[in-house]
Amino acid sequence: MIRTVSTLAELRSRLLGWRNQDQRIALVPTMGNLHAGHFSLVALAKQNADKVVASVFVNPTQFGPSEDFSRYPRTPKADAEGLAKAGCDLLYLPGVETMYPLGVDGAARIHLPGIAEVLEGAHRPGHFDGVATVVARLFNMVQPDVALFGRKDYQQLQVIRHLARDLAFAVDIMSAPTVREPDGLAMSSRNQYLTSEERSTAVEILHNLHTMREQVAQGLPLAGIEESAVERLVAAGFVVDYVAVRRPDLSIPQAGNEPGLLGLIAACLGRTRLIDNLEFDGVDTR
Ligand code: PAJ
Repeated sequence: MIRTVSTLAELRSRLLGWRNQDQRIALVPTMGNLHAGHFSLVALAKQNADKVVASVFVNPTQFGPSEDFSRYPRTPKADAEGLAKAGCDLLYLPGVETMYPLGVDGAARIHLPGIAEVLEGAHRPGHFDGVATVVARLFNMVQPDVALFGRKDYQQLQVIRHLARDLAFAVDIMSAPTVREPDGLAMSSRNQYLTSEERSTAVEILHNLHTMREQVAQGLPLAGIEESAVERLVAAGFVVDYVAVRRPDLSIPQAGNEPGLLGLIAACLGRTRLIDNLEFDGVDTR
């Protein structure tokens, strides 16, 4: 059984005990329905800290009005068991009144111009404001020495890095590679929304990222690479939000021979929105 706290007072008293013993504290923020991708963050946290706190909070401010907030899978019992097995030391399970004491509508919000407005930000207006708003609260509540995020949500990681730097949070931000299903689909709580037919099509996202990597290596023009991936995805049955080749900071590259480029895709299959990315110079994590 993992120790679970829900109020700020309980959280702070537990953290104080550890701080008095000079323990280095890691935070792994999540929205629950945990899978191997989340547990890889806990494993990396354990290597970089003495105590690991995981938070589970389905954050209302990062969902758009027509998005899946109400049907987002909530599996608190399995999450607690999985975290215990992964060696996590504390589960922080705040209610909405703890995260947003002035109410969701009265809450201070954080907007990061630029980084939060492109790609995901352009297609999910306000999404990263909600992410930055809740992560800033978690950083203030837990005051971790290190916090861990997955590169599956590559742009989110960049948003968090901007947040930590701009608001001078004394926290190291670490990232972990994307954990994938055996066929290559990036693990995600949203994969369970897929029908079995959609599930077999979903892997086309990664296949297209691989094709984009090859075409970039061949020196083909980036705009054409993006367009042909959109065409292939549409033909496979996706509704495409974006296909992009970007620099590590998500700005638009001048040419395909720049170092560190990555491909990013967001596309819907039926009611399910999927995102993935591939760092072209990185090692495959499948
Ligand atoms: P959630 O989607 O639950 O993801 C929590 C963390 O797990 C994020 O850092 C995410 O990038 C990472 N993650 C998810 N799937 C992964 C995979 N297949 N491989 C590696 N890491 C993976 O992201 C959020 O929650 C929220 O936006 C949050 C940051 C908690 C703020 O509410």
